[in-house]
Amino acid sequence: MNWQEVDVYVATADGLYVYDAKGNKLDPVVAEDVRGATGEQPFVKDAPVGLVYVADFAKTGKSSAEDKSFYTAADAGFIAQNVYLFCASEGLAVVVRGSIDRAALAKVMKLRPDQKILLGQTVGYPKK
Ligand SMILES: Cc1cc2nc3c(=O)[nH]c(=O)nc-3n(C[C@H](O)[C@H](O)[C@H](O)COP(=O)(O)O)c2cc1C
Repeated sequence: MNWQEVDVYVATADGLYVYDAKGNKLDPVVAEDVRGATGEQPFVKDAPVGLVYVADFAKTGKSSAEDKSFYTAADAGFIAQNVYLFCASEGLAVVVRGSIDRAALAKVMKLRPDQKILLGQTVGYPKK
């Protein structure tokens, strides 16, 4: 159905951004370092980039709750795998993460109730 419902949020030391795919640019969301809130493991606050995949249920039409949940999760899996491929090609370290305090992070990210946090993915430099 080509919902294009997953937004890619990017947390860096400079702040939180959302990727505008059409404009190929990052739009500012929060002017603070929120990396620490994007996961429950200590490395998430230190790695340079924390990606957060957020499903916008406002774009998923009249589909059932099960379908919304299934397809948005599948879509996030494809996105995360593409990030893995890019990171492999660039020699970057990367890990996809499900352990997220989603209620707390949704507040920090100023999400609407119909936006659902799916996964986080941390990108950094390999330790020597
Ligand atoms: C959907 C999904 C969610 C995951 N969530 C976490 C997580 O929250 N924390 C974590 O340490 N590993 C999590 N993992 C596992 C890591 O992404 C990774 O696969 C595992 O640490 C093995 O990494 P390695 O192959 O680089 O050793 C998750 C994996 C998947 C596929």
